[in-house]
Amino acid sequence: MKGLILAGGAGTRLRPITYTSAKQLVPVANTPILFYGLQSMVDAGIRDIGIIVGDTADEVRAAVGDGSRWGATITYIPQDEPLGLAHCVLIAQPFLGADEFVMYLGDNLLEQDLSTFVRAFRDDPSRPAAQILLKSVTDPHRFGVAELDSQGDVVRLVEKPSEPASDLALVGVYLFGPLIHEAVRSIQPSPRGELEITDAIQWLVEHHYRVRTHQLEGWWIDTGKLTPLLEANRLLLERIESRVEGHVDAESTIDGRVVLEPGASVVRSRIRGPVTIASGTRIVDSYIGPYTAIGIDCTVVHSEVEHSVLLERVSITNVPRLQDSLIGRDAVVTRTQSRPKALRLMVGDHCQIDVE
Ligand code: TTP
Repeated sequence: MKGLILAGGAGTRLRPITYTSAKQLVPVANTPILFYGLQSMVDAGIRDIGIIVGDTADEVRAAVGDGSRWGATITYIPQDEPLGLAHCVLIAQPFLGADEFVMYLGDNLLEQDLSTFVRAFRDDPSRPAAQILLKSVTDPHRFGVAELDSQGDVVRLVEKPSEPASDLALVGVYLFGPLIHEAVRSIQPSPRGELEITDAIQWLVEHHYRVRTHQLEGWWIDTGKLTPLLEANRLLLERIESRVEGHVDAESTIDGRVVLEPGASVVRSRIRGPVTIASGTRIVDSYIGPYTAIGIDCTVVHSEVEHSVLLERVSITNVPRLQDSLIGRDAVVTRTQSRPKALRLMVGDHCQIDVE
């Protein structure tokens, strides 16, 4: 069995971060989102993995390399334009051949690993054409929704239905046999101009091929927007184990589970976990509250930060309270005493700023 991870796409919902970098490489709990998916595939025994890459191909290649870190072999598959999830299958066909494969959206995070999902498919003697992963949700009209028969197989898939037939949303993980290649070749682009994977799966159902389902236990997050990304950061920080290897001076306190990497320092400050602070970062005269992940070489001086993600080399000075925030690389946030008292901003396109 092979793996196909989708790490192209436009990432419009996470601008401005995605103007300069891949959304799949935004760190949660200081590890790029994509790495969790990769690890989860490898844990399920899948080592031959293709990664679909778009405009941010160089960055993804630099981060993942040849996959040897995970004991996997990576094949990069360039996609010139984000023409849809089924288009990814179409261009990956030479890599996939006639093998069964797991397709995983590179910006999705699952609490559970993929082993049970893969085993359920493999152990099914009827050799279904596909298996989709479903999660019961309270707001199904926001998702692709599956209508099932009495055996739990798919009868119909509907994108964002106004009257959902069930509360079962499609999670961004799919398992396919080789028939999917005929399906993706047979469908037409949707009104939004994409080859939709839901249409390809619907094609299988309409041609009387079996699409089985598997219900996900535990949480699932599509991290493509700010709020779910912070939620994923919170959930993953819940799992960290304390490791204080950086420098903590005598006037600082550390409570709860905290990772302080070697080369990070905490001076006259209080850190209340779960928190992770990467190497080269300095926290001085500050409070870092729960569910905060701070990247490498940041400085936080005379400030309070909570429930936030700071990427590399961020500088925060004299900010009384920063929370629920995602701060991009090299950003500077400062409170000054200069008059007149005013907000002075240099803000990039598509930024979002909430003022107290
Ligand atoms: P989406 O989040 O559905 O699409 P997107 O990345 O274009 O984001 P936005 O809606 O904010 O503009 O994509 C899900 C995953 O699949 C994500 O990791 C990107 C990837 N993808 C591709 O690799 N190629 C594609 O053609 C598409 C549509 C998505």
